Amino acid sequence: MTFEARYEGYKALAEKRLAGFFPGGGLYEVMRYSLLAGGKRIRPVLALAFCEAAGAPAERALDFACAVEMLHTYSLIHDDLPCMDDDDLRRGKPTCHKVYGETAAVLAGDALQAAAFATVLRANGFPDGEAPRQAALALAEAAGERGMCLGQYWDTLGTDAPDSLEVLDRVHDRKTGDLLRASCAMGVIAAMGGGADADPACLAAARDYAGHLGLAFQIRDDVLDVTSTPETLGKPIGSDAQQGKVTYVTLAGVEESERAVARHTRLAQEALDRAAWRGDPAFLRWLADRLAQRNY
Ligand code: IPE
Ligand code: IPE
Ligand code: MG
Ligand code: MG
Ligand code: MG
Repeated sequence: MTFEARYEGYKALAEKRLAGFFPGGGLYEVMRYSLLAGGKRIRPVLALAFCEAAGAPAERALDFACAVEMLHTYSLIHDDLPCMDDDDLRRGKPTCHKVYGETAAVLAGDALQAAAFATVLRANGFPDGEAPRQAALALAEAAGERGMCLGQYWDTLGTDAPDSLEVLDRVHDRKTGDLLRASCAMGVIAAMGGGADADPACLAAARDYAGHLGLAFQIRDDVLDVTSTPETLGKPIGSDAQQGKVTYVTLAGVEESERAVARHTRLAQEALDRAAWRGDPAFLRWLADRLAQRNY
């Protein structure tokens, strides 16, 4: 099987399961609108692939994978609101608040976040509950006041514009890196059952991989905001400039940004070599390259 087919397989697995959540109208319809609108599903793919690399069937991490996509979708709904990036297009469709209004969008985001934790804590197949406990904690730390929310706070309200690439990396690592880190870690946690035989080297390697992947990912996102089209990207271009954002591109230019993406991609791949995997991490090396070259 090609790596591309494997990616599609993980994505289909997650999407099939996601489609079963939140049946009904009203608030549930709003949640489903954004959750099932498409998207690359990178975070669930990472959770499933890391579970396999760590030696267990991907399905073992399926609930964790769905949870992290719910949390990510909540972050996108809120990120697009007028009080944040004020964007009208997401995943090729009008943003949640454009269709349902701001009140419903805020509430759908809130509810998706809560549902993410419920989904982790209810995950099947972990009789002693240790893996869900560790996974929920990893997700909470990634999402909260020391993770994504802090990054989004700096990104939108930080009074001093980030004036160096180092400071910008710090913002990116919180707003984007932390959730990718949790996705990878939750896959490893699922595989190891959270038990005593958990291999700390695998967990550390997964987190290092995600850290570099996250920086590469957000720099690429900033480049695409300048070089892509709304049709390809499924979201507006020029959004960062419109909001007066300081991005990697404004500080370093497109070419230097592309070099930084390549550098972090290589560092992500090298991080995988620092653990002994029970499965094969080759797919994860390929995925890092694929994300570096993505056009949407
Ligand atoms: C967008 O995330 C927000 C960033 C962290 C840059 P994705 O690029 O993963 O968005 P979807 O899930 O594919 O729509
Ligand atoms: C958002 O970064 C990161 C999140 C935590 C949602 P961006 O604001 O650059 O993401 P896009 O470009 O809107 O997807
Ligand atoms: Mg934003
Ligand atoms: Mg945005
Ligand atoms: Mg962006």
